[in-house]
Amino acid sequence: MSAPEMVLKVQDLKKHFPVHKGLLSRVVGHVFAVDGVSFEIRRGETLCLVGESGCGKSTVAKTVMRLQEPTAGTVELNGADITKLDQEELRAHRRQMQIVFQDPYSSLNPRMSAGAIVSEPLTNYGIAAGPELTQRIAQLFERVGLRADAMVKYPHEFSGGQRQRLGIARALAVNPRLIVADEPVSALDVSVQAQVLNLLIDLQEEFQLAYLFVSHDLAVVEHIGHRIAVMYLGRIVELADNADLFGTPLHPYTEALLAAAPLPEPGLKRERIILQGDVPSPMNPPSGCRFHTRCPYALPECKVTDPPLLEVAPGHHVACLRRPVGTDGAPLTRTA
Ligand SMILES: Nc1ncnc2c1ncn2[C@@H]1O[C@H](COP(=O)(O)OP(=O)(O)OP(=O)(O)O)[C@@H](O)[C@H]1O
Ligand SMILES: [Mg+2]
Repeated sequence: MSAPEMVLKVQDLKKHFPVHKGLLSRVVGHVFAVDGVSFEIRRGETLCLVGESGCGKSTVAKTVMRLQEPTAGTVELNGADITKLDQEELRAHRRQMQIVFQDPYSSLNPRMSAGAIVSEPLTNYGIAAGPELTQRIAQLFERVGLRADAMVKYPHEFSGGQRQRLGIARALAVNPRLIVADEPVSALDVSVQAQVLNLLIDLQEEFQLAYLFVSHDLAVVEHIGHRIAVMYLGRIVELADNADLFGTPLHPYTEALLAAAPLPEPGLKRERIILQGDVPSPMNPPSGCRFHTRCPYALPECKVTDPPLLEVAPGHHVACLRRPVGTDGAPLTRTA
């Protein structure tokens, strides 16, 4: 059987934010928020981006959607590079990719009824009108677990979980192929998180959706991700299938993340990831391997050589000088 179709292919994506200073607003440096990130997502597949606060997860999500313009790199959606398109050309492609945000309260217009919120994209794209539109909205409401008569309510009248269901219904309305979800359950009560995750999993199966799923929570990522990309200071340092990443982590940073967060039932753990040592500034990332300043296994060479992300075992990619091709996950010897 051939692999499912490619939906998203991101190559060497970069987003550098200029830092201005002084009266003349001179550019005095750049925040290297995303600094050379590549990955692919196929139909029916979930790729998770995980990592500490500030590592660039949301910036990847926003530049993929072109809510922010990438500094460099390509983003192919269904085989077409969308980074060079003007706004008019982009519109047709936008329909294929929808975003779900962390906080549905701030991303849903409080002055619009729930029905209007979900019908807006359908009207904008001229997909449905009149009784057909009402029927389509009712179906969407029911599909995401909301009562159709809730259409007349306003966002503040819903619970957090229901508001996120509304955000999902709106994203789903235009039949996208890709949904980018940025911490979609992080603002929800623990008991509600699993319900919303399971809804996303059911919808994926039904519509063969591709998900780019951003989260700092390893338990959530383990629950929903088919493949996981671990980010550190604007780069992917490890990319592997779920079982391989959690079973045989190869990058010292991934190992530290897993050690810091023992994994209970999905959704039970919500704290931020804590690791010893300071995260270096993304304005001035360390030379060589960006993780060497916090790595207990660093060799002198790690200060000078920037390790590429290499496939060292089938489907298992890691950017670490100490993990050559054929690596078997044996423990590294500590140097610090
Ligand atoms: N508009 C902006 N202008 C300047 N710097 C920015 C901008 N947006 C993000 N950054 C910086 O880029 C880096 C990555 O930010 P980003 O929001 O992508 O991180 P994140 O991984 O999503 O973090 P979190 O887990 O806290 O959401 C951070 O250092 C952040 O301060
Ligand atoms: Mg973020």
